[in-house]
Amino acid sequence: MNTTTLPDEIRSEEELEELLTRPTDALIQAIRGVESPLVILGAGGKMGPSLAVLAARAAECAGHPLKIVAASRFTNDSARQLLEARGIRTVSVDILDRSQLKQLPDTTNVLYLVGLKFGSSTNPVPTWITNTLGPITAAQRFAGARFVALSTGNVYPFTPTDSGGSRESDRLDPVGEYACAAVARERMFEYFADKDQTPCTLVRLNYAHDLRYGVISDLAQRIIMERPIDVTMGHFNAIWQGDANDVILRCFELCSVPPSRLNLTSSETFSVRDVAGQLSELMGKSVRFVGGESECALLSNASQCVKQFGQPATPVSKLIQWIAAWTLRGGKTLGKPTGFESRDGRF
Ligand SMILES: NC(=O)c1ccc[n+]([C@@H]2O[C@H](COP(=O)([O-])OP(=O)(O)OC[C@H]3O[C@@H](n4cnc5c(N)ncnc54)[C@H](OP(=O)(O)O)[C@@H]3O)[C@@H](O)[C@H]2O)c1
Repeated sequence: MNTTTLPDEIRSEEELEELLTRPTDALIQAIRGVESPLVILGAGGKMGPSLAVLAARAAECAGHPLKIVAASRFTNDSARQLLEARGIRTVSVDILDRSQLKQLPDTTNVLYLVGLKFGSSTNPVPTWITNTLGPITAAQRFAGARFVALSTGNVYPFTPTDSGGSRESDRLDPVGEYACAAVARERMFEYFADKDQTPCTLVRLNYAHDLRYGVISDLAQRIIMERPIDVTMGHFNAIWQGDANDVILRCFELCSVPPSRLNLTSSETFSVRDVAGQLSELMGKSVRFVGGESECALLSNASQCVKQFGQPATPVSKLIQWIAAWTLRGGKTLGKPTGFESRDGRF
């Protein structure tokens, strides 16, 4: 997508969905290499519905008959309804129960989105079991298939804010139980890649932004509610969810044994104070800061991704503009703050 085709404002969830699921020429080309069926595990969360619809639209544009199976427990029935309304087959599955995975068709392409982050500080057991047993049952059920498996930038330690962030080859030194469980999720895929020759790409994403969630949305909500913004975690990376979706679906071509690893985020490091300042100006609201910027933050280096797939088409300045307008209009949020401020890894 070219920046000149980006709207000045997004006025409704329908417009948002259309934009998030508009395929690029590169994806239309790449989707021809994904054979049916594409099984999406964990399709009922924040990213699954737009990824599934994007894959379907890209395949349609390519004239490629791609069947998509969206699997999740669908605790959120509206995700299921949306998918079915777009003609995508849904299957209700708890992937921790091996017998339920038998309902899914055999496949050579799996998009793995299952994860659990929130609640891990008060009740860590579900976080650990989801992020460890989930990859095991999935990798055993679809041994030999290509897996594009979502991971997170939380697998890295904090790095100096002027360092450009952690690279894929850097040591993993996670902070807190969720981050440790996210490393475990990667290790499970590494184990089965080797054991069963299951090619995999581990996509370390942070922070994806829709208008309804993401760090910038969290900041805009604080401003509109006249709450102070703590700048101790003073820097972050950001990427538009539509651009992240585009790369994720093109990652099947990177699947390998051992798994390839890819940081998926912005090249730039953004300052919380600067971005909140821009939001406050666009929203005509004052902003109050507390704390002082730390010298390190959770940051990833996107050079490898940019080399492979190019720069994200949507500049973060555009996200700031869209989110300011969306928030002023009282646009929907998912009520799921990112918790990006956490410096002790408690979520
Ligand atoms: N969004 C981001 O900015 C971001 C950043 C970094 C990493 N990630 C990674 O990307 C992945 C997808 O992100 P997301 O934002 O869509 O996450 P999400 O909203 O948490 O969605 C993951 C979905 O997995 C499903 N799931 C959990 N346990 C399951 C089980 N036992 N069986 C079947 N499905 C299960 C859940 O849906 P049901 O309740 O319907 O089962 C959940 O909504 C996550 O795993 C996360 O680690 C995302």
